[in-house]
Amino acid sequence: MRVDGRQWRTIWVENEAGDVGVIDQTLLPHRFTCRVVGDAAEMAAAIRDMVVRGAPLIGASAAYGMALAMRSNPADDNLDAAATMLAAARPTAVNLRWALDRLVGHLRPLPAHLRRAAAYKHAAAIADEDVAINQAIGCHGLDLVRKVADGKAGKPVNILTHCNAGWLATVDWGTATAPIYMAHDMGIPVHVWVEETRPRNQGAALTAWELSKHGVAMSLIADNAGGHIMQHGEVDMVIVGTDRTTANGDVANKIGTYLKALAARDNGVPFYVALPSPTIDFSLHDGIADIPIEERSPREVTHIQGATESGTIVEVNLAPVGITARNYAFDVTPARLVTGLITERGIAPASSEGLAALFPEQVTP
Ligand code: MRU
Repeated sequence: MRVDGRQWRTIWVENEAGDVGVIDQTLLPHRFTCRVVGDAAEMAAAIRDMVVRGAPLIGASAAYGMALAMRSNPADDNLDAAATMLAAARPTAVNLRWALDRLVGHLRPLPAHLRRAAAYKHAAAIADEDVAINQAIGCHGLDLVRKVADGKAGKPVNILTHCNAGWLATVDWGTATAPIYMAHDMGIPVHVWVEETRPRNQGAALTAWELSKHGVAMSLIADNAGGHIMQHGEVDMVIVGTDRTTANGDVANKIGTYLKALAARDNGVPFYVALPSPTIDFSLHDGIADIPIEERSPREVTHIQGATESGTIVEVNLAPVGITARNYAFDVTPARLVTGLITERGIAPASSEGLAALFPEQVTP
């Protein structure tokens, strides 16, 4: 997508030596700064510290992390050590394991001297595939937006989203935002309710930033306002992303998503999940029991980051010093609350049958 007139992706090869460039998402929206990642340990830290985040981008970053590892030492023991280290960076987004399994499966049979070039090529393929997947999700989601727009006589389609499932969370386009960007670019009036997404505020910091850079109409709301605006008919549809969706359609996404799905059901608002296939974990069949939910530092709950009027980025305490806090990063929305899964192959009902019909090759007899 474009930032101030220049086309960007969220991850790229920075130079001929093979260093990897990323946008430092911990500084947005206050500063647009890029970072150079020089080895696999630095990439694991960038994923863990959320310099890069969002399930698809975590997958692409892990793939480039393996390329960096092969650049420094293509031996078998380093292949395994790098994959183990990167896999431990964040637990919920299954794209991480998916990308690592793909890289390791591709590299292991190769002689060591061919692994470096092959790893960069494969990481680039994963990044390009992500862009193509998101564009396809955009096209399928656009049909849904267009249908709502047809009944609104020129009034904007109001879409609520949670966290950041935008281009910053992917290599480009985003998942939940792809239909929104496409609708906007085609002249369909859209307005996005952006939930701030405590504790790390990916909605306020990232989604609000990227939508407004692209000129999409939006309003930032506190997380707790979502139910209220649904009750007052101000939301035509919800579209969120996902970090892992089970074979039966249970959806793990940023903490707070489940409450919005409940409110959407209570108010008859369609609740869609934009779901790239690398985010489907076909080995799991019960999201609440089986999806590992990341618990992050309590400091993300007790403290908040922002910028002063002069632009200095500061962190301040919100809670009594020394208080106990818990920081669950994701929750699971049961399939029964999901209206549809917008995948690159089309829109599936959130069920085993729905996903199996679109991805028959994944079904084990
Ligand atoms: O903790 P984050 O910022 O990595 O969480 C991101 C989300 O929950 C996104 O909604 C999800 O990864 C889908 S991104 C297309």
